[in-house]
Amino acid sequence: MQSSIQYTTDVLIIGSGASGLSLALRLGKIYNVIILTKDLVHESSTTYAQGGVAAVFDVTDSVDSHISDTLIAGAGICDFKSVEFIISNARHCLEWLINQGVVFDSKKLMNGGFCYKLAQEGGHSCRRILHSSDATGDTIERALVVRVKAHSRIRVIECCRAVEIITSFHLGLSGVRRVVGVYFWNLEKKEVELCRAKVVVLATGGASRVYQYSTNPAIASGDGIAMAWRAGCRVANLEFNQFHPTCLFHPKARNFLLTEALRGEGAYLCRQDGSRFMEDFDMRADLAPRDIVSRAINHEMKRLNVDCMYLNISHRSETFIRQNFPTIYDYLIKLDIDLTKQPIPIVPAAHYTCGGVVVDQKGRTDLEGLYAVGEVSYTGLHGANRLASNSLLECVVCAWSAAQDIQYRLPDIIHVSKLPSWNKNNSLTTYDVMQLQYKLHNLRVLMWENVGIIRSSKQLKFALNYINLIKTEINEYYSNYSISNDFLEVRNLVQVAELVVKSALRRKESRGLHFIVDYPEKQLEPHATILCP
Ligand code: FAD
Ligand code: SIN
Repeated sequence: MQSSIQYTTDVLIIGSGASGLSLALRLGKIYNVIILTKDLVHESSTTYAQGGVAAVFDVTDSVDSHISDTLIAGAGICDFKSVEFIISNARHCLEWLINQGVVFDSKKLMNGGFCYKLAQEGGHSCRRILHSSDATGDTIERALVVRVKAHSRIRVIECCRAVEIITSFHLGLSGVRRVVGVYFWNLEKKEVELCRAKVVVLATGGASRVYQYSTNPAIASGDGIAMAWRAGCRVANLEFNQFHPTCLFHPKARNFLLTEALRGEGAYLCRQDGSRFMEDFDMRADLAPRDIVSRAINHEMKRLNVDCMYLNISHRSETFIRQNFPTIYDYLIKLDIDLTKQPIPIVPAAHYTCGGVVVDQKGRTDLEGLYAVGEVSYTGLHGANRLASNSLLECVVCAWSAAQDIQYRLPDIIHVSKLPSWNKNNSLTTYDVMQLQYKLHNLRVLMWENVGIIRSSKQLKFALNYINLIKTEINEYYSNYSISNDFLEVRNLVQVAELVVKSALRRKESRGLHFIVDYPEKQLEPHATILCP
């Protein structure tokens, strides 16, 4: 199969969530930008974000306090410089977001002015979360998409999935290895196309769909992590996958999140008989950081041999609940659950990839010209456990920071003359779709059962053996069969699963989101887990 179309742009951004769109808008003023996205433009984890964005907007709050909460949640292995950098730059980046048309909930003051309504979430020592009702991500995504679509220098190419990063090495060029473009799979035409770019940015989001149960949309399959790894970049801290404590437990809806902001407004976790349990696990009770809450729920479910725990906010008034959580109310009522009157069945589910592609403060990866921003990246902000609502913050701050660096460097970069055509997979045969679906399902179950909230070395080794088997088979088929979207999905998820398990095996201690029964204690001198290709 030969690739047909060859695009050319200054900057190619892969991904159209908060990080990709923010970066495009920052760069589009001066440079030509193409955003490649594997589904429709709005389909991203960003769109589903509920709680909000953390930043200091209250006079009684402080940057130091936000930094301290982030470090505490991160369980001792945040990168202090990165935390300081991102949180100190939070306010002006959020003001930029507001200037793009994002409207956060606010209230009028007696003096005629206004202030933002700030929500409370786990691990925050005060109300600090800017939000737009319970659909903050959707509000942000919509505003940015409107701007991007109206922009003359930004072009969005939908339903196209980046497959592989092309480097100068592939072209046989000497000198420093650098990125020169990307091969991507056009889902409608079912063929590989190319884009030549001076700079490529991974804004591909996380990898939580490597687990059977996840709050994430299907796009979160770790493509950016897998592609960067194959291109020779280091990855870090992938053992720390965050499990959100409160995902709806319902046979018809296994992905729906119940925002932590509910607990910020008084919702509490309880057993089926209504008794509360979080006080038994942590002084901060229902507002403890997520790793602690998810482990407590998991503990109670196993101890009582039940399928779920419950989240109860029915003691608050119906008016208050419907005003503050309209999206959740409407969603649940269609499932015959009335959160104003009854506890909601919940389970923890894979939610956020705290590790990722290693970047510096400017978003630079190990490969010259390749950047990573947002959930795909490892900046050191989250350590062993991300603080609630710090992710969207990281997206907008790191997009700003990367944009500055890219603008500064672009004038010195010239395009390579031509990219080599895609000439793999000449066979007309496609890998059996059912086989692929079956493999994918098995992989996700394997990860859920063996690399979940509580792991053991034995389980991790078992998982790795199985992953190696699938990986060998997939690699063999990669050279002999035509590719397909399903095939690319399995290939990337297997790669990510391998990296997660290898990272988990490296950490001989329990910390934050990584609890391993063989090593229940923390080590005295912790550090990040960095894997080199
Ligand atoms: P995403 O928004 O996930 O976007 C990734 C983009 O990359 C998508 O457009 C996707 O199609 C594209 N893509 C991926 N692979 C490819 C490929 N191979 N080729 C082309 N395109 C590709 N965080 C908070 O801070 N506050 C919250 O309240 C909050 N709530 C959340 C609620 C839910 C249900 C979920 C799932 C997450 C929540 N998070 C929250 C986390 C946060 O939303 C994400 O971490 C953040 O939105 C990630 O943004 P991003 O731009 O890095 O990636
Ligand atoms: C939530 O609203 O509970 C999710 C917030 C986050 O992931 O930061």
